[in-house]
Amino acid sequence: MSSERVLPSDPPTRLVVMGQGYVGLPMALRAAETGMTVTGFDTNTSVTAALQAGESHIGDVGPDQLAAGLANGYRATSDPDCLAEADVVLVCVPTPLGPGGGPDLGAVESAADLIGARVRPGTLCVLESTTYPGTTEEVFAPRVCGDRLVVGSSVHIAFSPERINPGQTEYGVRNTPKVVGGLTPECTSRATEFYRRFVDQVVSAKGAKEAEMAKLLENTFRHVNIALVNEMVRFSRELDIDLWDAIDCAETKPFGFMAFRPGPGVGGHCIPVDPSYLSHRVRALLGYSFRMVELAEEVNHAAPLYVAQRVADELNRRALPVRGSHVLLLGVTYKPDVADLRETPAAPLAARLIQQGARITYHDPLVTGWTAGGAAVESVPDPYAAAAGADLVVLLQAHAAYDLGRLVASGAQLLDTRGVLDVGGTVTRL
Ligand SMILES: NC(=O)c1ccc[n+]([C@@H]2O[C@H](COP(=O)([O-])OP(=O)(O)OC[C@H]3O[C@@H](n4cnc5c(N)ncnc54)[C@H](O)[C@@H]3O)[C@@H](O)[C@H]2O)c1
Repeated sequence: MSSERVLPSDPPTRLVVMGQGYVGLPMALRAAETGMTVTGFDTNTSVTAALQAGESHIGDVGPDQLAAGLANGYRATSDPDCLAEADVVLVCVPTPLGPGGGPDLGAVESAADLIGARVRPGTLCVLESTTYPGTTEEVFAPRVCGDRLVVGSSVHIAFSPERINPGQTEYGVRNTPKVVGGLTPECTSRATEFYRRFVDQVVSAKGAKEAEMAKLLENTFRHVNIALVNEMVRFSRELDIDLWDAIDCAETKPFGFMAFRPGPGVGGHCIPVDPSYLSHRVRALLGYSFRMVELAEEVNHAAPLYVAQRVADELNRRALPVRGSHVLLLGVTYKPDVADLRETPAAPLAARLIQQGARITYHDPLVTGWTAGGAAVESVPDPYAAAAGADLVVLLQAHAAYDLGRLVASGAQLLDTRGVLDVGGTVTRL
C-alpha cells in the first residue's frame, strides 16, 4: 500500500466570456473543450436563450459544435451575476465607430462596469475587443478596479487581440497564435499561462499597448494593401494593362511580396473600422494625421462608387442608360461564404445605382432580406434565370454556392469584381 497522499485535483477554471458573437462564442466553446467551466454572457437575451436551446446564430459554429459545448458544461446567460464566480473573464464585445467616426467604447465601458461591480479579488480580466492603444489601461482597468481592486495584486488585467477570421476553416482559436500583453509583467504571465491551456502558441507582448497596436498594425496593413490594388486597378485599365495578371506574376516571387487583389471595397467589422481607431487616437493625442490610413480610407470608400461607374460604362457600351436598366447584384455580404452584411460595400454601390434610376435586384444564398440606402432591395430566388434576364450582372462575392460556369453559360452580361471569371465574350472585369 502506498503511503503517498492523493491530493484532490484542482477545481476547473471558471471562465466567463462576455459577448457571444463571432468572436466570443467560438472562444467560449474552445475553452469548454479543455475542461474549463465556461459561461457565455451576453446582454442580448434572445442570443443567450437561443444558445441555451442549442441554436447558433454564428455561421462558423454549427449545431453539433454547440451541442458538444453544452454537453461539456458550456452555458449561456444574460445574468451578470455569473461574473462573481469567475476566475477569468474575457471581454469580446463590439467596438464600432461612433456617429462622428470616432471610437464607440460604450460596450467595453459597460462590460467593465459589470465586471467591476461583481468580480472577486484574484480574477484575471482580459479585453479582446479591437481598440486603440491605451484603452485597456485608461478605459477598461479603471472601471474594473474602481476603488476596490489594484491592478497586478488584487486583479490581473491584460489585452489579447482577437484574430478570428470568419469563414476561415484552416485557422481557428486553437491554431492561431495569440498575442497577450498585460498591464504589469505578472498580468502578462498570468494571461499567457491561461491561454496556453487551449491555444497552441501564445506570444507575450511587452505590454497591453503593444498588444493593442499589434492588432491595429495587422488590420491597417490589410487596409493599405487593399487600397493599393484598388487604386492601381483604375489606371491599369486605362493603360490597357491586366492588373490581375500582373498580380499573379508578382505572386510567384517567393519572398518580400504578398498578393492582394482588387474588389468592390472593404467591409466587415474590422478592416474599415479598426484603422480609424488608430488615426483618431493619433490625431486626438498628437494633433497630426496618420496619412496612410486616411488615404486608404479614401481609396477604399471610393471603390463601390468606382464599380457604379463601371456599371454605367458597361451599360453605355451597349447603348443602355443606367436609368431603367436592370442590374442584378450577386453576393452582397462583405466576404464570401459569411452571412455578415456589416459595412458591406454592396450597400453604397446599390444606393448609388438606385439614386441613378437603375432597377436593382440581388441574390445572396446567405441573406434573406436586404436594404440599401434606406430602401428594401428585391431579392431573386434563382440567380441563373435572373442573370439571363438582367441588363447587367455584377458579381460582388463569389460564394462557394455559385456555379460560375452556369452563370457564364446563362449568356448574361457580367461584370466580375473579384477576378474569378475568364474575361471575354460577355464577361468583363473591374
Ligand atoms: N468578427 C470578426 O471577424 C472579428 C475579428 C477580430 C476581432 N473582432 C473584434 O472583436 C470584438 C467583437 O466582435 P464580434 O464580431 O464578435 O461582435 P458581435 O456583434 O458578433 O458580437 C458581440 C456580442 O456582444 C454583445 N454585447 C454587447 N454589449 C455587451 C456587454 N456590455 N456585455 C456583454 N455582451 C455584450 C452583443 O449582444 C453581441 O452578441 C470587436 O471589437 C471586433 O472588432 C471581430
